[in-house]
Amino acid sequence: MIVYESRDGRARLYQGDSRDLSPVPTASVGVILTSPPYWIADSGRGAADRYARNLAVAFGREWRRVLAPGGDLWLVLGDRHDGREWVGFDGLVTGWLRRTGWRLQSKGLWIQTRPRERWDNRINYLLRFRKAGSRVRPSGATLCWMLPLPRTHPESIWDATPEPVLRALLLASRKRGAVLDPFCGAGTVGRVALGLGREWIGVERDPRMARLTARRLKLIGVRS
Ligand SMILES: C[S@@+](CC[C@H](N)C(=O)[O-])C[C@H]1O[C@@H](n2cnc3c(N)ncnc32)[C@H](O)[C@@H]1O
Repeated sequence: MIVYESRDGRARLYQGDSRDLSPVPTASVGVILTSPPYWIADSGRGAADRYARNLAVAFGREWRRVLAPGGDLWLVLGDRHDGREWVGFDGLVTGWLRRTGWRLQSKGLWIQTRPRERWDNRINYLLRFRKAGSRVRPSGATLCWMLPLPRTHPESIWDATPEPVLRALLLASRKRGAVLDPFCGAGTVGRVALGLGREWIGVERDPRMARLTARRLKLIGVRS
């Protein structure tokens, strides 16, 4: 695994598959804030359900291990019509996470204005989970934004979540412990987390995207 780090050690990026987070110590992470690849290539409820199950089971196992008690898991998830019906992805993912020991604490929306597609991914859910047994007291905050899709880095093939949304979610979350993005893409969560004085850990499978994030966040390769 290739590891990149900032000079002050507050940011670390692993280039690898985040189903395995073995370099990250147990209960060391305060917030997981991430946007997994959206479900765009398939159609049919069965395929959408398998995707949701995979997220909760194959990735969620390590999320549970590294997240501190009272830590927050935020998922930014797009939803869409699959040609036959609106999928309702938030319900599928919440159902699978619930079965694997998580409880949904709040739900917000970021609605894209000026979307590229006619309907796909215009709605983005902001889902906050905690491990069963650790609750967030309901707050009066309304988590709702209408914002255009931000201009991503020219070399990134992925879209990013708007920075004001990420900042608000982090400010509403557990303050102690690092922020982890297990699908870090071009590192937008890292930029926001470091800007708020948080420590940040990113994991990215694609070596080109990992190199791009390393450059954006001024990280240097430390070992492989
Ligand atoms: C939706 S993008 C994230 C975009 C990101 N929020 C940004 O600011 O660029 C999802 C990222 O997850 C990465 N990815 C997909 N499967 C992965 C895996 N198993 N482990 C680590 N990264 C993965 C993709 O390569 C992609 O860069």
